[in-house]
Amino acid sequence: MSEPRPHRTLRLVWEVLVASTAALLAITLPIRLLSGGDRGLPPIAEVFVTVVFGVDFVLRVRARRSSGAPTGPAWATVDALAALPLAPLLHRPEAGLLRLVKLLRAFPLFGGIGHRLRANPALLRLGGFVLILLVLAHWLACAWMALGGRGPGGLARASYLEALYWTVTTLTTVGYGDVTPATAPQRLYAMSVMLLGVGVYGFVIGNVATLLTRVDMARAQYVATLDRLSGFLRYRRVPLHVQRHIFDYYRYLWEHRMGYDEASLLEDLPPTLRQELSLVLKGDLIEKLSFLEGASKELILDLCMRLRPLVFTPGDTIVRAGEEGRDIYFISGGAVEVLAPDGTRVGTLTDGDFFGELALLRSQPRTATVRALGYCDLYALDRDAFLRTLERYPDFAERIEEIARSRPHLEG
Ligand code: CMP
Repeated sequence: MSEPRPHRTLRLVWEVLVASTAALLAITLPIRLLSGGDRGLPPIAEVFVTVVFGVDFVLRVRARRSSGAPTGPAWATVDALAALPLAPLLHRPEAGLLRLVKLLRAFPLFGGIGHRLRANPALLRLGGFVLILLVLAHWLACAWMALGGRGPGGLARASYLEALYWTVTTLTTVGYGDVTPATAPQRLYAMSVMLLGVGVYGFVIGNVATLLTRVDMARAQYVATLDRLSGFLRYRRVPLHVQRHIFDYYRYLWEHRMGYDEASLLEDLPPTLRQELSLVLKGDLIEKLSFLEGASKELILDLCMRLRPLVFTPGDTIVRAGEEGRDIYFISGGAVEVLAPDGTRVGTLTDGDFFGELALLRSQPRTATVRALGYCDLYALDRDAFLRTLERYPDFAERIEEIARSRPHLEG
């Protein structure tokens, strides 16, 4: 069973509070430890952190119990230790660093918030990645100061900014050499940061490149499809006007559907989700179909599940007079012209209209030719599904029949 919405929001707010407290600790605690020798958190901050982490520990234990998930002893011990004010209890300010394990709570939270804001997952990962790098650089700079690293010129102990400068130049493998290690521990530390830098550098280059291509996956796929298609069309010497027609079609698909193929995406979903998404995707069309006003939910769902999206380009013949009819078409966007068998225009149909019902209802050849006037977004329903729907929903059948009867009769 899913959690009620207000509970979910409260939980999210609470998790943001815990993660922000941990993040603030991660930034301030190392600096405080460095700047004053024995300076941990001020008492009021210590109380605040203890209360927040303590309540969080209790809430997590309760949540795990109620969900039936086992409370791992290792996890519970670490979480409980992070909640305790160990630094003042043991008179060791550095014991407060244990509280930084709570920072691990920030990672799932990042994904959760991004999901709620519907952020691009690749951008989200990129953001998380940058944050991790910033915190890492901060800690490494603090450690360099703790080792007594000297500033440029090698005289005074490095200020935070100088230490950060050394860290960034070393981590990014730039290493200007104006800040250098002087003691054995500093050299060992510098070597470790250099090695870490090589790893980070490779990781950054590799990941950022992949993540950037993923930020706009749809466009990348669209460009790749066009490239492949264009190569094929040139290889098969397809005439230029046909090529232009094909590319115009893809441009339309990109501009109106971001290149996504609705039907194949729906196919990948389990039945209930497919129904839910179909209702949303075809909601616009259903609203436009005036003869569906007041129709039952079942009928609308039935139709949504069976309608197939189709795009026609300007001048395309959608149905031809005299041919056998296989589908009925509903217009979601665009306009079509209806031409009598002798070629005279007998009408135009637009958003919310349908055509192609006569051949299916009367089991006869198409009475007219229907041609797209511009780009047309249509939904097609095949003969069997249409006839079955008419049988199941007599009201719907009556309305369709009424419109069919109102079509001016065309002589063949
Ligand atoms: P069908 O005969 O199956 O295929 C051509 C379609 O054009 C036809 O069904 C009707 O839906 C539609 N149609 C036929 N005549 C007219 C008309 N006079 N005005 C508007 N639409 C028409």
